[in-house]
Amino acid sequence: MNDQMFQLAKAAVKNAYAPYSNFHVGACLRAENGELYAGCNVENASYSLVLCAESSAISALISAGQKKIKEVVITSSGEMLCPPCGACRQRLYELADGNIPVHLYTMGGEFKTLHMNELLPHPFGSVNLDK
Ligand code: THU
Repeated sequence: MNDQMFQLAKAAVKNAYAPYSNFHVGACLRAENGELYAGCNVENASYSLVLCAESSAISALISAGQKKIKEVVITSSGEMLCPPCGACRQRLYELADGNIPVHLYTMGGEFKTLHMNELLPHPFGSVNLDK
């Protein structure tokens, strides 16, 4: 599953719209039904409007009617592994359990697996909201 997710994330990197940073990111999410949803970063001349690859993929998963993220793959055009930014850690956490794997890949296929709770310890979530 991991490898198929990597292939989809790599394909998304190729479609990234990143003319300002020239840093292309692809993400692939596995939903509860086993389906895979990919996304890439989408930049804007008004820089702060950038959409991260993870957010694009989350949007695809939710638009398809899925509710939960079971596994994540992220890859980028950079030489180093690309961990999700702080905002995307929070966005991923909203739909994921703390123990799901997040695989960070180089485009060459080397990867490191972390878990959601390592990326976002002491998370803020729906349980913290007063009901
Ligand atoms: N980027 C992502 O797509 N995901 C991340 O988690 C890190 C950053 C994108 C945003 C921007 O288009 C480019 O990488 C440089 O920050």
